[in-house]
Amino acid sequence: MPKPKKHVFVCTQQRPPGHPRGSCRQHGCAAVYEELLWQLRQRNLFNSVQVTATGSMGPCSEGPSVLVYPEGVMYAKVQKANVAEIFDRHLVGGSPIESLKVSPELWG
Ligand code: FES
Repeated sequence: MPKPKKHVFVCTQQRPPGHPRGSCRQHGCAAVYEELLWQLRQRNLFNSVQVTATGSMGPCSEGPSVLVYPEGVMYAKVQKANVAEIFDRHLVGGSPIESLKVSPELWG
């Protein structure tokens, strides 16, 4: 398997209802994860982009959280509708999307 140029981690953490930290699952991460995989297949980018589901990465209140390496860019409140733009502009185009970045207080 070739080393990916971009590695996308999407938090799929679930916590019990009422948990003080909440979770990305409560914020709809499942749809985001499915869309990342669908876009990856549609674009046939398996040799350059890898998508991995993870547990919590920290900024739980701002989920769903998506982290892209090698840049270490953390996106917050990602919705299914944002995924195509993440592919177009960042994963293929090479330019992180400033408006989707988590606040520096939570990841900086
Ligand atoms: S639950 Fe997703 S970042 Fe913490």
